[in-house]
Amino acid sequence: MEQVPNQNRADRSQRPLPRHVGIIMDGNGRWAQRRGLPRSAGHKEGAKNFKRIAKYCNRIGIQYLTVYAFSTENWKRPALEIKALMLLFKQYLKEALDEFEEENIQIRFLGDTSVFSSDLQELIRQTQEAAKKQTGMVLNIAMNYGGRAELVSAVKAICAKVTSGELEQNEIDEATISQYLDTAGQPDPDLIIRPSGEYRTSNFLLWQSAYAEYLFMDILWPDFTPENLEEALDAYAHRNRRFGGVTPV
Ligand code: FPP
Repeated sequence: MEQVPNQNRADRSQRPLPRHVGIIMDGNGRWAQRRGLPRSAGHKEGAKNFKRIAKYCNRIGIQYLTVYAFSTENWKRPALEIKALMLLFKQYLKEALDEFEEENIQIRFLGDTSVFSSDLQELIRQTQEAAKKQTGMVLNIAMNYGGRAELVSAVKAICAKVTSGELEQNEIDEATISQYLDTAGQPDPDLIIRPSGEYRTSNFLLWQSAYAEYLFMDILWPDFTPENLEEALDAYAHRNRRFGGVTPV
């Protein structure tokens, strides 16, 4: 990770904070394997850390946090691992439902959640219902999410509107596409963090990340601490975001 001058660490309150942070929670399996544990033990630690980091982001004033919990490609994993992940989603969503209510966090879901078991879908429904009363950080949990699948759904929905005459083809612009994504109405991510030492974006927020700053960190997700997040925020504060323009002199 890039080096950040020390004096900036002293006064973090003056840093420009990203409004929207995305995290690819990667490295659970390796964390477990290094300890001679089953991969599911790594996911359990990862789920604990998900709660810790989400609460921390809310407390320091991040307005939107999106976590990648299960991708459209993760169904390729062994059945036992998928089963363990589904159990964890149920357990940790139940816990989050209570604890995040106290923290005023609004949970939303990205991805096609209609494929999950009926009890998990019911929990998702309850969580979304509870979120309507909250006003704090928006926490998007991406589950059965893939950026390409999200774009395919958006294209189909837009085509249906054109066919029914509700939308003119030449009215379609970038804002139209954004409105048909699961993140409709939310700002694009400013910073995407991928721990675990992998340098890939893995189908995460493909459209929305066009101008996101990326930070790849060589640490496994269960070991990722609030201080690691602070380091990422320090690095973000030093990035020169130009959005295709030039830096004013
Ligand atoms: C990637 O690590 C991680 C996942 C596929 C699962 C992430 C899920 C959680 C952290 C649980 C979150 C819980 C809720 C309720 C949102 P990996 O298994 O690919 O790690 P590896 O690359 O080391 O094998």
